Amino acid sequence: MLYLQNIVFKFRLFIKRVKQRKGIILAGGKGSRLYPLTLALSKQLMPIYDKPMIYYPVSTLMLANIKEILVITTKRDIDSFKKLLGDGNNWGVNFSYKIQDEPKGIAEAFLIGKEFINNSPSALILGDNLFHGAELIEKLCKAEKNKGATIFLYPVKDPKRYGIAEFDNNQKVVSIIEKPTKPKSKYAVTGLYFYDEKVVNFAESITPSKRGELEITDINQLYLSDNNLTAEILSRGSAWLDTGTFDSLSEAGTYIQTLEKRQGLKIGCPEEIAWNKGWISDNDLEKLSFKYPNSEYSTYLKKLPFNEY
Ligand code: TTP
Repeated sequence: MLYLQNIVFKFRLFIKRVKQRKGIILAGGKGSRLYPLTLALSKQLMPIYDKPMIYYPVSTLMLANIKEILVITTKRDIDSFKKLLGDGNNWGVNFSYKIQDEPKGIAEAFLIGKEFINNSPSALILGDNLFHGAELIEKLCKAEKNKGATIFLYPVKDPKRYGIAEFDNNQKVVSIIEKPTKPKSKYAVTGLYFYDEKVVNFAESITPSKRGELEITDINQLYLSDNNLTAEILSRGSAWLDTGTFDSLSEAGTYIQTLEKRQGLKIGCPEEIAWNKGWISDNDLEKLSFKYPNSEYSTYLKKLPFNEY
């Protein structure tokens, strides 16, 4: 009997270990700082130079080897996202979609995504966050192995505008304060979070803040109280851009344009990532290039297998 129990226990442990991390892209919101641009179109469908904004968070999740992705957006925009991204098969991933009725907070993603997460570890990325840099993949791989929660911190010039981490003498995060009047550091919490399967329970346990939102900071605080939160610091060699204002939207476009023109390599190109990872073949890539006829994007995809870039 004991022997059988032991086998069942080990089997459960094995299943737990092989449960793949699922990804959620939160791409709803009002986008009110971008009015009138966003009156009829989702912010996350706006162009960042040569591709729609959502290609960048999709790429970040793909770089983290996440293939099951839930896109959460508004009732108004869901069909546009479906039209753009489809079921993900073309990119070797799987997209599903859910509506957030009102922007009731980032942490609500875990209530909306409860069934999708299905007790797996998950990663949440905000649809208007753009990450880039050589160390990114290394940090994502590290986060994959961390227990509990992992947040990614980035130094900013104007910490009063962000959720800011406070450290103890051992460089361990001891608190996170939203938009602090007296910031204890310059390290902002970015819009990318890795969690274990407990996150849904945590999301169910919190209540809306004064501004009526389920705050992601409250979830991070719960992991912090459990001594189960790791902070990965993205160094100055990386870029973390959010694209919520006219200036930041335009600056992000210029950043991508400058690097792509200089190197002849694309940033945030899901087709290229899928092909590099062996999720799609040379043939698949060629077929995808026909999806965008006449565009430079199509030429880029066609040439990838020949190393002409
Ligand atoms: P925000 O920039 O905080 O909000 P917003 O996009 O609605 O813009 P604005 O402040 O100009 O009105 O949101 C950050 C990202 O998170 C963005 O991609 C939208 C997304 N989001 C949701 O999808 N649902 C939500 O409830 C919240 C708070 C944000």
